[in-house]
Amino acid sequence: MTTTENHTSNARLEAFNEKLAGKNWSGQWEAEKYLMASIGGPQPAGVPHRWGWAETKEALDEATDVLGTVDTARRHLTCVNPGLKDRGAITTHNLAAGFQLVKSGEICWSHRHSPGALRFVTQGHPEAYTAVDGEKLVMEDFDLLLTPRFSWHDHHNPSDKDVYWLDALDVGLLQKLGALFYEPYGEDSQKLRPSTSEWVGTRSHWLRPTWEEERTTRLPLRYAWSDVRERLALYGNEVGSPYDGLALRYANPVTGGPTMDTIDCWVQRLVPGFSGKTHRRTSSAVVYVIAGNGTLETDNGTITFQAGDVISLPNWTNFRWTNASASDEVLLFSVHDIPAYQRLGLLYEEPEAIIGATPAPANPTPPLKPLYAQGAFYGKDER
Ligand SMILES: [Fe+2]
Repeated sequence: MTTTENHTSNARLEAFNEKLAGKNWSGQWEAEKYLMASIGGPQPAGVPHRWGWAETKEALDEATDVLGTVDTARRHLTCVNPGLKDRGAITTHNLAAGFQLVKSGEICWSHRHSPGALRFVTQGHPEAYTAVDGEKLVMEDFDLLLTPRFSWHDHHNPSDKDVYWLDALDVGLLQKLGALFYEPYGEDSQKLRPSTSEWVGTRSHWLRPTWEEERTTRLPLRYAWSDVRERLALYGNEVGSPYDGLALRYANPVTGGPTMDTIDCWVQRLVPGFSGKTHRRTSSAVVYVIAGNGTLETDNGTITFQAGDVISLPNWTNFRWTNASASDEVLLFSVHDIPAYQRLGLLYEEPEAIIGATPAPANPTPPLKPLYAQGAFYGKDER
């Protein structure tokens, strides 16, 4: 008989445990089962799940009938993880993501909150915009907009078309931290700064004011999709990571660090025929499929995805991306709580460290010859 079996059959111990509980105590021996369950790592919170765009759009359109235009600050549908329903409206244990619809002519009134938020525009318009701390961020297809924690934000759609986007927030994390704050502005629209020279985006450029200390966090930024496409094209046919494909992070342009304090955003390209390696990390993610079709194999089965889908990827869950197409690439936009884990020293990956683990490209060897020696600047006779 083991010690544990002896304890569980020990009537005196059970009575003692009850006595302790009555006095608001708990013996360490009661926690042993939780420690044993964590051998090899944490239990994943929630399950991998896919939300299809057709169903989501249908529900959003129905919401316009049910809620009208001014009954709610936000006509947003959160993707609720089927394995986390008892924890509220969250998509992974730390992240809440879902779609929002703003109809033609609508304004979603201004407010701010401690959860950091972002918008990834799935059906935008050049006239639609989100105002963030007095700055006007245009919402065109596949643009990424940041509304960092405690920044005032209101959404405007003066165009003649409905606009849709994916919202993502670190609300699950802040719930656990007991750090939820919320404040309405009191008016539909906040006041806009009179000049673009006052915008943080303007002043965070590679030409920066010399007379002021740079702001490094809580940047209300727009990452235009046109710029992202240009950057992706620079990589040619490069496959990128054998695990995540060509995964590029939306960097904080001042620090080069994470997109926001607790959230990283990536654009991922899986080249035709990509067959990724299985891996897992302590962080979780929410993924939006911009283009293409493929599969995500996980510990909980295989998800077949297509453009417009949203997928939850719980912590410490093995997963593997594939793009079976011989001709079409897969493009993904993904939201990660990686920075929160990095700051706590808790980002672990298996089977090997992947993020930031590979050295930057070395200088070509043998060293490049000066360009003039190749006749690039001078003719041979002029050397
Ligand atoms: Fe908000």
